Amino acid sequence: MKFFIDTANLNEIREAQDLGILDGVTTNPSLMAKENITGRERIMQHYKAICDLVDGDVSAEVIATTYREIIAEGEELAEIDDKIVVKVPMIKEGIKAINYFSEKGIKTNCTLVFSAGQALLAAKAGATYVSPFIGRLDDISVDGVALIEQIALIYRNYNYPTEILAASIRHPMHIIQCAEVGADVMTGPLSAITALFNHPLTDIGLAKFLADHQKVSTK
Ligand code: E4P
Repeated sequence: MKFFIDTANLNEIREAQDLGILDGVTTNPSLMAKENITGRERIMQHYKAICDLVDGDVSAEVIATTYREIIAEGEELAEIDDKIVVKVPMIKEGIKAINYFSEKGIKTNCTLVFSAGQALLAAKAGATYVSPFIGRLDDISVDGVALIEQIALIYRNYNYPTEILAASIRHPMHIIQCAEVGADVMTGPLSAITALFNHPLTDIGLAKFLADHQKVSTK
């Protein structure tokens, strides 16, 4: 399973990269706004800075919502770096644009996916990644992990190469559950990723090993 971090914060990206387990980054307009990255030039520079930090794909989302504008914005984003994946919303114009990008060899991430039907359309259009938002589904009492499982079954049935990128991860159990049902990638906050390290028996065991070592080494 690939691990992406879902942030535009350079310090968090650096910290995750330093762990040696990071495979990529996803951003969205809300995450960029959270870092106060505004204006075309600063946005482009920020994506470049992320690409320079990370060994892996970096999703950069278009703001445009019409076919022609999505194409223009996406092509501009793709020129920043080979690592850029153009993130396109799951709307009719977006699916048409994904089809275009796919024929041009530009990587895409179909975002704001909340149903199996939408995921099927993304795969048919040739999306590199499909992003079902599991946390936002859980928020409205719909089982987000069950959607990942359903999409995985459909993609297996037809050998679609589109990778399932479980997005809107809220906590470490989401990561484990997505791994169990076969998500190719998960993207989540640094807190959900680092929470995977934690187990009280690891802490207790390590303290005991160190204490036992200390006893004999001071003799
Ligand atoms: C990722 O690509 C999405 O933009 C992101 O995971 C959404 O997460 P949220 O529901 O926590 O905003």
